[in-house]
Amino acid sequence: MTEFDFDRYDRIRPIRWTGDALELLDQRKLPFEVEYVCCESSDAVAEAIAALTVRGAPAIGIAAAWGVVLAAREVEASDGADAARKLEPAIAHLNAARPTAVNLAWALARMRRVLGEAGSDWREVIDREARAIAEEDLAANRRMGAMGAAMIEPGSGVLTHCNTGSLATAGFGTALGVIRAGVAQGRIDNVFAGETRPWLQGARLTVWELQQDGIAPTLIADAAASHLMKSGKVQWVIVGADRICANGDTANKIGTYQLAIAARHHGVKFMVAAPSSTVDMATPSGDQIHIEERDPGELFGLGGVRTAAEQVGAWNPVFDVTPHTLIDAIVTERGVIENPDESAMQAAFG
Ligand code: MRU
Repeated sequence: MTEFDFDRYDRIRPIRWTGDALELLDQRKLPFEVEYVCCESSDAVAEAIAALTVRGAPAIGIAAAWGVVLAAREVEASDGADAARKLEPAIAHLNAARPTAVNLAWALARMRRVLGEAGSDWREVIDREARAIAEEDLAANRRMGAMGAAMIEPGSGVLTHCNTGSLATAGFGTALGVIRAGVAQGRIDNVFAGETRPWLQGARLTVWELQQDGIAPTLIADAAASHLMKSGKVQWVIVGADRICANGDTANKIGTYQLAIAARHHGVKFMVAAPSSTVDMATPSGDQIHIEERDPGELFGLGGVRTAAEQVGAWNPVFDVTPHTLIDAIVTERGVIENPDESAMQAAFG
C-alpha cells in the first residue's frame, strides 16, 4: 500500500469547515446536483443530520463536532467548564438528531471532555478537537483500507451496501475504502452495489462516488443479492457499521442482516469495516441498540413520485443488526478481528 495514490482515489469531501460556517455536500440531491448547503448554527447542523443532508456514521459525528464550534459563537464563558454548561443544550440537541450511529454521541462526548478540561482558551481547544476528529477519521480509513484489502484474494468480486465512502466519512471511506484499495491493488475485479432502498444510498451515492475514481460498479436491486451470491460472482460482502457492540453484533443500514445470512448460506465471506469510533463497548449486544425508524412516507414513492397504492400503512426501520456469528472479520484502524465475539472484542477494545 505504500505506492497507493490516495488523491487519485479519494477526491470527495462532504464536510468543509470555512472558519465561519460548515458547508455540507447535500446528499439528498446527489448525483444530479452537486451542491453544498451552508450551516451557520448548531441547530442548522442538527437539522441537516436529521434530514440526511449529511449522513453516514463517521460523517455525522464530524458534522456534530463542528456544530459545537458553531454553538460556541453564541456563548460567552470564562473557561471550558463554564462553556460546557452553557453549550449543553446545543450539544444535547445535536446528540438527539439520529439515534443509531454511535459516532454522533462519541464525537460529542469528545467535545464535552476537552471543554471540561479547557481553560480560557476553550474556543481554540474545541476548534482543534473538531479538526482532530476529522483528521483521525481520514487516517483510520486509509489504514483500514490497507488491512481490509489484504484479506481479499486477487481476482475477487465484492458486494457492498449503502454508502460507506468519502461521502459517509472525512474521506476515503470505510467499506468503500477497502474496496478502493482492493481495486487499486488488483485484488478486486468487480464491485456490485445494492440500491439500498428507500434512500438509494447505493444507487445514488456509491455508484457516483466510485465513478469519480474511474471505478465502474455494477448496480443490483437489493433483492438480487442472494441470486448474485449463488452465481459465484462475489467472494466478499463488505459493509460499514453504525454501531459495533461489545460482543461484535453490528448495526448497519437496513438490509445488511439479510446479506449476512445469504453470504453464510453461499460460502461468501462477510467483512465489516469501521473506525474504532463506531465501537460501543458499553452496549453488550445488538438487542440493546436503538434502531432508528423514519417516516413511513419514505416508502411510498421514489424521487417524489408516488409508487405505493394509496392508504397503505408502512414500517420503516432504517438499520438492522447483524449477529457477530455471521461476521467473518471486523476491520478497524487498530487491526482485524476475525470471527468476532465478546472475548475477541474485549481483547481489542476492553
Ligand atoms: O442512514 P445513513 O445513510 O446514515 O446510513 C449509513 C450507513 O448505514 C452506513 O453503512 C454506515 O453509516 C457506515 S458509513 C462509513
